[in-house]
Amino acid sequence: MTTRAELRAARAEHGTLGLVPTMGFLHDGHLSLVRRAKEDCGSAIASIFVNPLQFGPKEDLATYPRDLDRDLSLLEATGCDLVWTPGDEDVYPPGFDTYVDVHGITDVLEGGRRPGHFRGVSTVLSVIFNVVQPTRAYFGQKDAQQVVVVRKLVRDLGMPLEVVAAATVREPDGLAMSSRNTYLDPTERERAVVLRRALDAVEKAWQDGEIHGAALRSAMSAVLAAEPLAEPDYVSIAHPDTLEELDHVDPSVGALASMAVRLGKPRLLDNVVLLPR
Ligand code: PAF
Repeated sequence: MTTRAELRAARAEHGTLGLVPTMGFLHDGHLSLVRRAKEDCGSAIASIFVNPLQFGPKEDLATYPRDLDRDLSLLEATGCDLVWTPGDEDVYPPGFDTYVDVHGITDVLEGGRRPGHFRGVSTVLSVIFNVVQPTRAYFGQKDAQQVVVVRKLVRDLGMPLEVVAAATVREPDGLAMSSRNTYLDPTERERAVVLRRALDAVEKAWQDGEIHGAALRSAMSAVLAAEPLAEPDYVSIAHPDTLEELDHVDPSVGALASMAVRLGKPRLLDNVVLLPR
């Protein structure tokens, strides 16, 4: 199913519907979202669209991993009821000239390093939400800023759907699943577990009573610094909703501890929510 009209006709056959928007090259993280969507809503739909609008000029749009046949088999085996695989012109018809920009929270972290990224994400999701009209949309917590941005987009524009964030799905050694992990060579893949270790360190510091932003950031940085292949882009201790960097974490609010780390070719993201205590 590719066109908006085909999708709308198929969607009309379902009542409550859970949507999992993806860029394909699916892994267990995506499939667990599909299972959750199906369990919660009765019917699930996945969209597969590598959205050019959210890639910067120097990013990996041309080489982004793709395997549609494999994705479709995995979705079928997972019991996904509908799959939308639009082409560029189905999402952005000729003359398309409407863009959605969530301000403020997109200026920092990933948004600060990837100008225009969240404009691309917000625009494509506005189209997908409008065409699919899901009851709920499911996202992985691994892309923590994306979750915050989508929640704000839906709230600000009064979109009639619920945003659900599901826990990050990890490989047995703790590496967060991501389509871009495929870029890691075997040595890099082995060393990539350092991100999980850095998150364990900040979680421990938080549980031990640390509330200073600088000390919490240092807990992550020190672990990353011990791995020569890891080049941290940022480590952050931010307010979980405003994404403002914190000098002190309010224990009754908690914080989002996040990082972006280049390890060989890919830039890996990971995070943990420091829960209120
Ligand atoms: O997280 C992703 O894969 C993408 O950003 C999304 C939400 C499918 C929008 O293109």
